[in-house]
Amino acid sequence: MTRAKTLYLCTSCGGQSTKWQGQCPHCQSWNTLQESAATPKGATRALALNDVQPVQLLGEVAATTVQRTSSGLLEFDRVLGGGFVPGGVVLLGGDPGIGKSTLLLQALSKVSQLHAVLYVTGEESAQQVAARAQRLNVDYAQVALLAEIRLQSIQQVIEQRRPALVVIDSIQTLYSDDLESAPGSVSQVRECAAQLTRIAKTQGPVVVLVGHVTKEGTLAGPRVLEHMVDTVLYFEGDGSSNFRLVRAVKNRYGAVNELGVFAMTESGLREVSNPSALFLSHGNTPVPGSCITVTLEGSRPLAVEIQALLDAAQSGHPRRLSVGLDQNRLALLLAVLHRHADISCADQDVFINAVSGIRIAEPAADLAVLLAVVSSLRARPLPQGWIIFGEIGLAGEIRPVQRGQERLREAAKLGFTHALIPKGNLPRQPLEGITVQGVDRVAQAVAHAFEASTGRTNAQG
Ligand code: TYD
Ligand code: MG
Repeated sequence: MTRAKTLYLCTSCGGQSTKWQGQCPHCQSWNTLQESAATPKGATRALALNDVQPVQLLGEVAATTVQRTSSGLLEFDRVLGGGFVPGGVVLLGGDPGIGKSTLLLQALSKVSQLHAVLYVTGEESAQQVAARAQRLNVDYAQVALLAEIRLQSIQQVIEQRRPALVVIDSIQTLYSDDLESAPGSVSQVRECAAQLTRIAKTQGPVVVLVGHVTKEGTLAGPRVLEHMVDTVLYFEGDGSSNFRLVRAVKNRYGAVNELGVFAMTESGLREVSNPSALFLSHGNTPVPGSCITVTLEGSRPLAVEIQALLDAAQSGHPRRLSVGLDQNRLALLLAVLHRHADISCADQDVFINAVSGIRIAEPAADLAVLLAVVSSLRARPLPQGWIIFGEIGLAGEIRPVQRGQERLREAAKLGFTHALIPKGNLPRQPLEGITVQGVDRVAQAVAHAFEASTGRTNAQG
């Protein structure tokens, strides 16, 4: 018999190397290599020779539309792209305590009314899960529970019971007999996920894997986990508010960046089906540094308040900090502001926050961020009732954003009376209840916003 060879796997990218190094040769991360025993050769060979699929002509393959299974929660279905797809593997990541187990238990109880389901818990005892189910006030009588962390036992149970939905809470607690490394190590996580994916593809159950998130906000364990599965969802939200967002960052069966919105209550997660005004701070008097924008995260427009705070820098290296927005984008916007509007923040610390823990990934918020910055710098509030959006280019131009009309309509519905937007997004016909002003240069936008905030605040009708 040959001796098991030792391999080193990177916890960040999953890359392999044959000797230990301080830096991963694949992704250049430091101190991420972990020792793990190589998989015995025979195992892979047996898999490869298992059976050979026939070649087919694509024209002869009957295209089928998938029959989706509803999770029983419309907001959850929305991020999934319309429900669970049989044989699909979903990875749900999020900070501890954010509500992953709660959400899935709610979904399991709903699905169990129609289909067989299996909840595998490696983190909590059966009693703990039952206590939570009781608290949630859901019908959990038909939810099959398995407190087990050994992959082979789980496989056996799935084969016997043939559930339509399997939830693994969490993938980091599982271990496979085939490997010697400890549960949670890269090779174990990878192997267990690969085996469970294989089960989903061959036997057809939906498999949901719960994954922990590291301090950096990425899923613990190798990145390859994200490549293996069909759908990657992140559970987001900040500790101070009870709103929770589920975001699709990868989805083979639906749109990405779709958002599902929930509120955590005493009895579990409640769906928020009309979240458009959720991310406003509800202050009545305008304050410097606050600007409201409409983002399109997924298919729904959301009004979001952007706050900026500028303060004289204490050192030669002023700080640029943003919560909910990309830090590099902020640096870029400040440079554009300097070059194209002659407004310098070089001696200021700049802090930006998107209210209520939402994360904005689209550049349509650029103009609102910039005007919030100028508003804080000048200690002058933007006029009340204004909504602002637009993408900013390096040449100081303001570019149109997608689905501008939809954003405007939403703003009008929420009672905003004035919109400052890219010229390219100007509506052909005037919209009822909202005065729209188009701008195409950064300097022009700044002039409009602050001219209005002193003299012509009530100019719009
Ligand atoms: P949980 O689902 O255990 O989080 P995760 O699986 O992501 O670690 O959620 C736990 C948190 O949610 C905990 O802080 C308590 C809170 N909670 C409620 O506020 N209401 C409820 O009905 C439940 C079940 C939990
Ligand atoms: Mg949990």
